[in-house]
Formats: sequence, C-alpha cells, structure tokens
Amino acid sequence: TVKMILDCDTGVDDTMAIMYAALHPDIDLLAVGSVWGNVDVPTATRNTIHTLELVGRGDVPVAQGAAGPLLRKDTYFAYFVHGDDGQGNVYDGAPVGPAADTTAAQQIIDIVHANPGEVWLVPVGPLTNIATALALDPELPGLVAGVSIMGGNALAPGNATPVAEANIAHDAEAAAAVFRAPWPIIMAGLDVTMKVVITPERRAVLDAGGKAAQYMSRIMQHYGDFIGQSFGGWIATMHDTIAVAAAAGTLTINTAPVVNVEIDCSDGPSHGATVCDMRGLYAGFPPQEGAHCTVLLDIEESIADEVLALIAAYRRPG
Ligand code: BDR
Ligand code: CA
Repeated sequence: TVKMILDCDTGVDDTMAIMYAALHPDIDLLAVGSVWGNVDVPTATRNTIHTLELVGRGDVPVAQGAAGPLLRKDTYFAYFVHGDDGQGNVYDGAPVGPAADTTAAQQIIDIVHANPGEVWLVPVGPLTNIATALALDPELPGLVAGVSIMGGNALAPGNATPVAEANIAHDAEAAAAVFRAPWPIIMAGLDVTMKVVITPERRAVLDAGGKAAQYMSRIMQHYGDFIGQSFGGWIATMHDTIAVAAAAGTLTINTAPVVNVEIDCSDGPSHGATVCDMRGLYAGFPPQEGAHCTVLLDIEESIADEVLALIAAYRRPG
C-alpha cells in the first residue's frame, strides 16, 4: 500500500478525494491536514473530520493548519463555488469528533520522520501548510516519497485568474517554496483535472450507492450547477482525486514530461502562474537540468468510473 498524508481545503471535490483515499485498499491514509482556501480553515477541518467519519475512518487523525496565506494579507475564499459550508450548502449538520492536538505542518513532519522515504504528501488546497512544514524542517524533501499536488496549469487557462489555478493563486509564495524544494513532484493541474468530468450518468452511480455516496452526490449539486454554466448543464469535476490517484498509482498517465516549474509571485496580471518549461513540445529539448516536476498532460479519464464505483460500494456497517 501507498502511505499518504492529504492536505485539504475541504470543499466539494476535496470531500471526494478524502473518501477515495480513505476507502481504497491500496492506499494507507495516515493523516489529513486542513487548510484555508475554498473555505475558512475551521470549516475545512469540520468537513474533513465529517467525511472520514462518513466512510468509517474516524481513526484517521485530522490536524488543523493555516487560516491564511504565508506572507500576504489577502485571504479570500470560494464559498460561491463550494457553498458557505464547503458542502454545497447542504451539510447534514452532524457534530464531528475533535481535531488532533497538533498543527497540519507539525503532523507532516512527525509522520514523515516516523516513515522515512515512504510517505506521499498530497496537498489539494493552497500550499501554505506544506511550505510551513518545509520552513520548520528543511530536511523534509529528502525524507518523503514525493509530493502529488492538485494545482497549477501548464498549457490550460487558469480558473482563479486568466493564468492562475486557484490553489496556486491563493498562496503563490507558498507554492514557489514547494515547487522549488528538491523533492519529486507530480503536478496534477487543470490540463488533466478539467478533462475528468462527472456527468449526470456518472453521478447516478453515487445515487445508487450507500449513504456516503448519496451524501457525496447531494453536496455536488451546487458545485455542478456552477461548473455546468460553461457546459450547458449540470456537470462536475473531481480535481483533487486525480492528485490522490497519481500518488497511489491507480491513475493511467499517458503524457507527463518532467520539467522545470516556477511560480510567478509578481504583482502583475500573471501572478500565481505555474511557469512550466514545455518548450520540449516543439523540439526534443535535452532533459532540463534539475527538473523534478512531472507535469500531467494526458491521463485516462476512466479513473472517474473507478472512483465513483469505490465510493458507491461503501456501506456503513450495521
Ligand atoms: C482547486 O480549487 C478548488 O476549487 C478545488 O478544491 C481544487 O483543489 C481547483 O482549481
Ligand atoms: Ca481543494
């Protein structure tokens, strides 16, 4: 099994990613960190604990992380996409168990040192907690199996701004530190995550599933309505789950060059851009010195069917 720690700004697609990681037999989900982004960090924490309890994994510790960006003061959220509750405005109101008595960054450091070389970090929100862990423990890059990030965009347009993807745009300085650190990175960006769609037909698989699957379908209504505005009707995406599948090795990856990636932290219109050196697409450039970022460009979108089937199959015992 693949050991991993997720770091989530638990909104709607984060919820699906947590369910997948918690339920998949080949994944050993050691812990989850919460971070601000889609929603404020206390809401992200509550939703993360709730999701784990829904799929019978209340045993997985959840540690709360950053409430805002590393350096800048402009904290903003995406309630308009994920709902005021981060659950499509239909959170079921269930009370949840306590968060762990540590921070998301410290949790990463402690678990990675206890499992040297084995743990994948899978951040699927702003990278504030990962950058904080790096600052606290510069040895971290040599101790992880890798970092599989939902974030960025190589050739695809941005979504938070014309050039920037939301997780990067939320905290560009944190992203710059994370992409610069010498660890193996997989970048699951918009180039691939926008191509894995949950159609109404696929959603029906969840509706025919157990309680957790039905809840997942319900919280997607608002999210799919928002995304569907550009696609002529309800349709949802599962951005974050793709980063989990990439780390777990359950994703079929067709094209993924290893290139240099830098983050634009300027104050201009390209703030938050993931500047990926894709010139090799034009001419077979020699391997780029020190490149350590595998940028996903083409994957099999059938991963969606595997994810939905796994979640639909879960039945709460008793
Ligand atoms: C990313 O931003 C959020 O909307 C999603 O949770 C995902 O992590 C997509 O750009
Ligand atoms: Ca997210």
